[in-house]
Amino acid sequence: MKKLITLVVTYFISCYMVQSQSNYFYSKAVWKDNTNIPINAHGGGILFDKGTYYWYGEHKSENTTTALKGVSCYSSTDLYHWRNRGIALQVSSDPNSDIAKGCILERPKVIYNPTTKKFVMWFHLELRDKGYDSARAGVAVSSSPEGPFTYIESKRVNAGIYPENMPTEDRNYSFSAEQNKEWWTPEWYSAIRRGMFVKRDFKEGQMSRDMTLFVDDNGKAYHIYSSEDNLTLQIAELSDDYLTHSGKYFRIAPGGHNEAPAIMKYNGTYWMITSGCTGWEPNAARLFSASNIYGPWKQYDNPCQGTNKEKTFGGQSTFLLPVEGLKNAYIFMADEWRPKHPIDSRYIWLPVLFKNNIPYIAWIPKWNLDVFTKRN
Ligand code: GAL
Repeated sequence: MKKLITLVVTYFISCYMVQSQSNYFYSKAVWKDNTNIPINAHGGGILFDKGTYYWYGEHKSENTTTALKGVSCYSSTDLYHWRNRGIALQVSSDPNSDIAKGCILERPKVIYNPTTKKFVMWFHLELRDKGYDSARAGVAVSSSPEGPFTYIESKRVNAGIYPENMPTEDRNYSFSAEQNKEWWTPEWYSAIRRGMFVKRDFKEGQMSRDMTLFVDDNGKAYHIYSSEDNLTLQIAELSDDYLTHSGKYFRIAPGGHNEAPAIMKYNGTYWMITSGCTGWEPNAARLFSASNIYGPWKQYDNPCQGTNKEKTFGGQSTFLLPVEGLKNAYIFMADEWRPKHPIDSRYIWLPVLFKNNIPYIAWIPKWNLDVFTKRN
């Protein structure tokens, strides 16, 4: 009898512990969904719609970083417990499709358009068997947040249009083959900054790889992406229905080699966190701010603090999530990539803290949303 009582008590204590422990974020631990399977949503972003968060991400496999399934979706009302909503955008079994199974489909983000009442997904797409040469942006649409999303098209962006902040002198300048002969020389850098690759890609459209989306308070949406061979970020306004580009776009940090952009608006200022370009290997995060979304953007020191800050705690930025119902509360979302076993890549979520109104990120192994209410 004593044994039975001990067993029952132990059972209830353990249930309580699992429950209470799961109301915390443990970066790099295995995060399980409602079916007890590790959450598979990498390079992702989160949309809040009618009381529910929807987390979209790359569904990764055991042995390849290419897309064998598509974009996964999970939902939650508290950010701690996630329900698997299945694959929101399926790759195609048609080998001729742009999103054929085995393509590279990365960094999906979803926004909601109140006018059309559609959920719009943008992602980085590389056509199958072409490595990272295609550098396209893809778009898909759905009437409900969990999908299914219908693929519309993919392309390089803003073909035949110059960025608004490229001076006429540089638009008219004839860059020579000599200037692009050897990369990383001062001459080459100077030509890159002036827009040598913008001109190179002018007709076909600008390259679009690592990306995010941002909807401003006035409903205008923006696509921010690594362009010009990942050397320069571009920010492009989307059309009113969010399904294409309006043609208005600007260059950010020319030649700065930024990837993995994530953006938030805090007290009227736009803040962006990016990574450098070392593939799946982590590097030091970068921080920028601007009072106008098109710039000029000012660069700050690495926003990460403490041990392993030079490697972003082993992660790479993917999204800055505003927490609903809390003022000035944002979560820095990053991926710890494991390219040898992609499905086991992990999530790093940390609160964005502020000092003198400048955001910073510190490694906190276990935390919850109380962090935001306890701030002074
Ligand atoms: C990273 C990028 C990832 C993925 C990877 C491939 O720099 O952020 O999304 O494209 O390169 O090596």
